[in-house]
Amino acid sequence: MKYTVGIDKMSFYTTNYVIDMSELARGRDMDVNKCKTGIGQEKMSIISPYEDVITMACEAANDILSEEDIPDIEMVLFATESGFDFSKSSGIYLHKLLHLKPNCRVLEIKQACYAATGALQMACDFVRSNNNKKCLVVSSDIAWYGFKTSGEITQGCGAVAMLVTSNPRICKVSQGHVFVNNVNDFYRPSYSHEPIVNGKLSIKTYLDILNKTMQKQKFSYFCFHMPFATMSDKANKTLGDNQISQEHLEIAKQFGKYVGNIYNGSLYLSLLSVLINEPKDLSKQDIGMFSYGSGSIGEFFSVTISESYKEILQSDVIKHRIERRKEISFEEYESMLSTFVERESSSNFMLESSLTPKYCKFILEKIENGHRYYKKSNEN
Ligand code: COA
Repeated sequence: MKYTVGIDKMSFYTTNYVIDMSELARGRDMDVNKCKTGIGQEKMSIISPYEDVITMACEAANDILSEEDIPDIEMVLFATESGFDFSKSSGIYLHKLLHLKPNCRVLEIKQACYAATGALQMACDFVRSNNNKKCLVVSSDIAWYGFKTSGEITQGCGAVAMLVTSNPRICKVSQGHVFVNNVNDFYRPSYSHEPIVNGKLSIKTYLDILNKTMQKQKFSYFCFHMPFATMSDKANKTLGDNQISQEHLEIAKQFGKYVGNIYNGSLYLSLLSVLINEPKDLSKQDIGMFSYGSGSIGEFFSVTISESYKEILQSDVIKHRIERRKEISFEEYESMLSTFVERESSSNFMLESSLTPKYCKFILEKIENGHRYYKKSNEN
């Protein structure tokens, strides 16, 4: 029997705290136009002291998993470049918190911002050879570059979860065109909490690989890996005659402009932005996708939208998550990210926060001897 493979369910989570770029610009005594026009960003989500890559991934996955899915999930791929353990996969924590079954392969996948796409393609291959089984792909990242660095204006945090199955109700995923090249544009060796970044080289390598992998094909929508919004404009220009309209590009950038950089998830946040913010029906349409991970690797592929995508997507939940966030001041931003850095550098950490966890079900309670302990709340 012929069946298709792709994303059956999909969700997105970001934290409850956000800084407007004008507030960051005030604190850094920087021209706000560099952030809002040059980089194209309006706001960026900031990680709270009681959340990490695992809690964010659990929130996104929890939205989409039903009792009926659990027996069929035989693989979890956790894509992140903000992992805190060089041995144990973040997916093991998630597997327990979501009560997945024991006979399930769990792996953390890493290749800068490309890992989620690698994981999605591997998940599709897995389902192609096991068509009754399902694979949960999660992408969760905290983009932290350090205070007063050039990358500081391109931070953010968030997670995307995708359930990969046969006969998918959101979109079919095509096999991609890949190009790999060893480049030192962005890397984070084990001795460093912050990445070492050559931003200009990163932009150049991104565009070079887009050119190499791009197929001469016209799409009405194209989603790009988006570390900052004007990167999508640069990428679109590279498509020449095949570039998409400015109106469609703005729709593809909309969520990311207000969330910031979420590394692996940013391409998929752009896809959600199109599926949720485009009022016209996109059923049966092909959307071009370009994934880039520094270091470097890129992949061009496409997705074909299923007829049921609008019923399956929890559009209101996702929109509400972006709208409900609490605006924080520059001083609160520095304090929250300082707590994050202290926490991530400690083998023991006890949450002592004046911030009351809000709008989240999964909470990081403490770190003891490097092991993380979580609790579940009844919040929505
Ligand atoms: N008003 C309007 N635009 C302004 C401006 C102002 N006052 N000041 C600068 N700009 C524009 C610049 O002209 C530039 O636009 P362009 O790219 O079209 O030339 C843009 O804003 C960025 O300014 P630039 O001086 O290049 O910024 P930067 O040297 O601080 O670096 C990044 C920007 C993105 C390279 C840096 O933030 C970074 O390294 N980020 C992390 C890595 C990353 O995101 N890599 C991307 C590929 S994965």
